[in-house]
Parts: sequence; structure tokens; C-alpha cells
Amino acid sequence: MQLAVFASGSGSNLEAIFNAIDAGRLPATVALVLSNKAGVFALERARLRDVPTIVLDPTGRDEAAYLADLLGVLNTHGVDFIALAGYLKKIPAGLVAAFHGRMLNIHPALLPAFGGPGMFGQRIHRAAIEYGVRWTGATVHLVDEAYDTGPVVLQEPVPVKPDDTPEVLAARVLALEHRLFPEALALFAAGRVRLEGRRVFIDEAPRPPAHAV
Ligand code: GRF
Repeated sequence: MQLAVFASGSGSNLEAIFNAIDAGRLPATVALVLSNKAGVFALERARLRDVPTIVLDPTGRDEAAYLADLLGVLNTHGVDFIALAGYLKKIPAGLVAAFHGRMLNIHPALLPAFGGPGMFGQRIHRAAIEYGVRWTGATVHLVDEAYDTGPVVLQEPVPVKPDDTPEVLAARVLALEHRLFPEALALFAAGRVRLEGRRVFIDEAPRPPAHAV
């Protein structure tokens, strides 16, 4: 799996992907880290590992030209799978089509709750606390043309505790994200994911060959 990771912020999920690769839990190479913003820490994390980085900002650009740049750079780096790890810009429909079934996003809530336009960062956790839900969590999903609506690949809950602030809850969810995102990517790398309509089925891991007695 030749992975491009798109990130707009701190890149702790990117770090979790690097760590999973180093630990042998994810058979992949991060071929490229892309951001819409220069100076974000995600880019620094990539540079520290000599991973190529690029900044492409769609703001005020013609979408066709932006899409052509994206496809060009992904092609140059031999990318065959995309992970959106805290990437805050809308993905052009042309890229969604080109990477159909090969682009994952991580969202820090149990979708379809607390997702969609405007639901990012601490707002998600504040909304969950104010709504009064007892559980929130993280969702890894395939990317479609809208925000946070693609087929769910993995999803796990964490409790919302009575004294939680958005910051405390965010940290609890983030710890889960760091395990869930590499796990989901590894399922794709192993070819274990099947899509039927919008339902995702995960095939059992192949068993190791039985030893002759
Ligand atoms: C994560 O909570 C992710 O779910 C959301 O943005 C945040 C990114 O954090 N989409 P980081 O940049 O990976 O630290």
C-alpha cells in the first residue's frame, strides 16, 4: 500500500500510522504527506522521517486546476490509497471518483451523530457533551462526495463522563483514533474489505497454515 496522508493540523494520527508501520502492524509506506497549510506540525512529523511533503491550498483556485495538481502529485509518488487524518478541506469529486473505495477518513464521533459540515475539532466534542449522550467514539469511513457520509469501516465507542470538558473528551477519543485508523488501513492493505452497497464486510484473516504432526 503506497499511502498518501492528508493532514491540516498536528498530525497525531499520522504519527500513529508511522508507528503502526514501524511495529509491523500495517504493511504500507507513507509515500507522501499533503497539507493545505504550510507550517502545520503534520508536515514537520513527515520531514523528520524523510517522507516527501507538499502543500496544496485550494483556496480561491479553479477546482479543475486544483484537481489536476492533486492527481499529478499523487501519480508522481505512486500513491494507491489515501488517508484523511484531520484534513479540513473538501475533497474534489474528481479525486473521490479516482480513489473510489481507496480513501478513508477518521471522524471523532459515532457517525452519523455529530458529523457533517461545520463539525470539526472541539465543536464535535462540545456538541456531544451538550446533547448529553452517554457514549461517543470514533469512526473510520470511506470517503464519498459529501462530508462524513461514506460507508463505515470501523467504529468504536468511548464513554462520556459527567465531568468531561471538550478537551478531556477529545483526548479520550483521540487515543482510540490512534488504534482504529491504522487497524482500518491494515484491513485494506490485507484485501479483507468488501463493499456491498453502503455496507462494509470484513473478511476473516487468513489462518496460518496448519503444521503437519
Ligand atoms: C482528529 O480528531 C480526527 O479525527 C479529526 O481531526 C483530528 C486530527 O488530529 N478528523 P491529528 O491532526 O491527527 O492530531
